[in-house]
Amino acid sequence: MKLTDERRRQLRITLDYTNMTDKYLGARGISQRTLDGYKWFSKQAHAYVMQNRGKDELFMGWTELPYNQTEVVKDIIATARAIRKKFEAFVVLGIGGSALGPTMAFNALCHLHYNDLPRTKRKGPRFFVEDNVDPVRMKELLDVIDVKKTCFNVISKSGATSETMAQYLIISDLLRKAGVDVKDHVIFTTDASRGNLVKISKELGGVKSFVLGDGVGGRFSELSPVGLLPAAVLGIDIKAMLKGAAYMDRICKINDLRKNPALLAATLQFIAMSEGKNIGVLMPYSDNLRYVSDWYAQLWAESLGKNETLAGKPCNVGQTPVKALGVTDQHSQVQLYTEGPYDKVVTFLSVGSYKEKSPIPHGCENIPDVSFLGGHTMEELIQAENKATAYALTKAGRLNYTINLPEVNEFTLGQLLFFFELQTAYAGAMFNINTFNQPGVEAGKKATFALLGKPGYEAQKTELDKAASDRDYIV
Ligand code: PA5
Repeated sequence: MKLTDERRRQLRITLDYTNMTDKYLGARGISQRTLDGYKWFSKQAHAYVMQNRGKDELFMGWTELPYNQTEVVKDIIATARAIRKKFEAFVVLGIGGSALGPTMAFNALCHLHYNDLPRTKRKGPRFFVEDNVDPVRMKELLDVIDVKKTCFNVISKSGATSETMAQYLIISDLLRKAGVDVKDHVIFTTDASRGNLVKISKELGGVKSFVLGDGVGGRFSELSPVGLLPAAVLGIDIKAMLKGAAYMDRICKINDLRKNPALLAATLQFIAMSEGKNIGVLMPYSDNLRYVSDWYAQLWAESLGKNETLAGKPCNVGQTPVKALGVTDQHSQVQLYTEGPYDKVVTFLSVGSYKEKSPIPHGCENIPDVSFLGGHTMEELIQAENKATAYALTKAGRLNYTINLPEVNEFTLGQLLFFFELQTAYAGAMFNINTFNQPGVEAGKKATFALLGKPGYEAQKTELDKAASDRDYIV
């Protein structure tokens, strides 16, 4: 993607926060005085992120991903080219941060019915992200792929995640039974030196592997090989994604609420959360962007949902992310958002120019209730509905703000991802919590180990078995 300075400016994503303020919301909005009162938090949060950026020991290595991957990107592009030539299908095996990013980028930047297109109209192999261990899903994937013609990208930082490793065991067994060399059909994305995938790679005699750096946690890894390899296989311009991220990073280097959109969005959300807005709805008005909500839900929930500050003080903070899709969810959830409890902030993702316009032809001239639509486009319709919903929420005194993407492409998606990552890092710093750990997720992983008899978890297994035999039922 060619990007002149002028083009970059045209593609800059913007934040419209009017409907978070008292301008149209009156007493329910955030006043300038309140915002001024939180300036100290925002200054401190920005300084914290700036001072610690790139520090692996604090899991802030993700801030440098737009800049430090020149060689890796070359390797990814060459590997992706070879995969496109050799394989008919590409399957990501991973979960959480290892899966949500690849799904999001696939959906955002590829044809919405990509897998159904004929090969000549696709830039890469058919694409699947298997982020669950539902046995039906596993079996039914195998009904539509031929393992001998498939490349499996096993993504796991720890190499110890039960879901991903169970999938790997099934797939490697099938590959062996099909008489092919497992090593030729798998690519690992994992830690540089630790973890089970490193050991497996050695056993198999050296599997092509990409490294997920020490300072990059799963949910901040989309701009690392975790997301970049699957994207490159799909023919997505990963350099433009990284350029978009770097562009947003540059904008957000300024420690000034009026100029730094991610800092302002974090501060407004922090104020809202402090005032009891415990639910954050993300509502893209774009089918291409619908899985941004899934990716964001993990980022926001896993990063901010904490019970202890960095100073060791108990707290229970965070905001429950809710995924919605415009306009679809106008006809299901918006009733609640407009008239239910005042406990939400709605974030809209709006698109300035869709890649298709889909004109609506004239017709039904004798029925004005229908004919008024003729001569417009579906782009105009979805944009009007987006504005109308923001207006209705504002009239009802509900906090909402809009992130505008001039278009959906690699450059704007890169900006958006970095915007959300920075917003999350700032908000975590305002709460003074560890934004980058996930002890709550680890607890569930360990209980699964115990239930399935992993050595070292015997005591927990006894506790779980006892609880299983002591249940209260209605039969
Ligand atoms: O954000 C995170 O760290 C988690 O969601 C992980 O990505 C997820 O649990 C998978 O872990 P791993 O990459 O070790 O398999």
